[in-house]
Amino acid sequence: MWKKAALIAAACITTSGTVFAEMKPDDAIEYRQSVFEVGRFQFGGMAAMLRGEQDWNTPAFTEHAKVLATIAPLLRTGFSVESHEGDTDALPKIWREKAEFDELLNSYISDAEKLYQIAQQGDENAMKQQFKATARHCKACHDDYRAD
Ligand code: HEC
Repeated sequence: MWKKAALIAAACITTSGTVFAEMKPDDAIEYRQSVFEVGRFQFGGMAAMLRGEQDWNTPAFTEHAKVLATIAPLLRTGFSVESHEGDTDALPKIWREKAEFDELLNSYISDAEKLYQIAQQGDENAMKQQFKATARHCKACHDDYRAD
């Protein structure tokens, strides 16, 4: 577990997503899975507010959006080297269709960044709309590029 925490800490120092010139496939797998785990927590916190399971709380929503926007670009590093063998659900076609995959990834990243910008403006309805726009990328990409 400390290893994952260290990876996340290292990841948080940079948001460029391009610091690691070359990663070993196993490191890339662990790296991106850690980023997804952190993202799931942020995402779940916002989803609970949308579903009414938690009271609406704009500062908390904004904090979740901020972390999600900060870590989303790290996924570029996580998918930078071919790594579909081992303890991973990533499908080989990610690297066969890297341009298409990167387009999906980039549109997710820009929607996550937009979500944080909108959250800072404080309009609850706009936040809900942009959350849904961001969430669509999760399912779209998982349907195409992640094993069931
Ligand atoms: C551009 C593609 C893409 C997008 C966008 C995407 N995912 Fe994923 N996700 C993947 C792939 C591929 C895997 C499998 C990674 C692996 O096992 O190496 C994955 C795995 C995961 C995992 C499991 C991580 C683990 O511990 O094994 C979670 C949780 C997750 N995604 C949540 C999300 C959420 C939430 C969003 C949206 C906010 C999202 N993902 C957006 C492609 C994507």
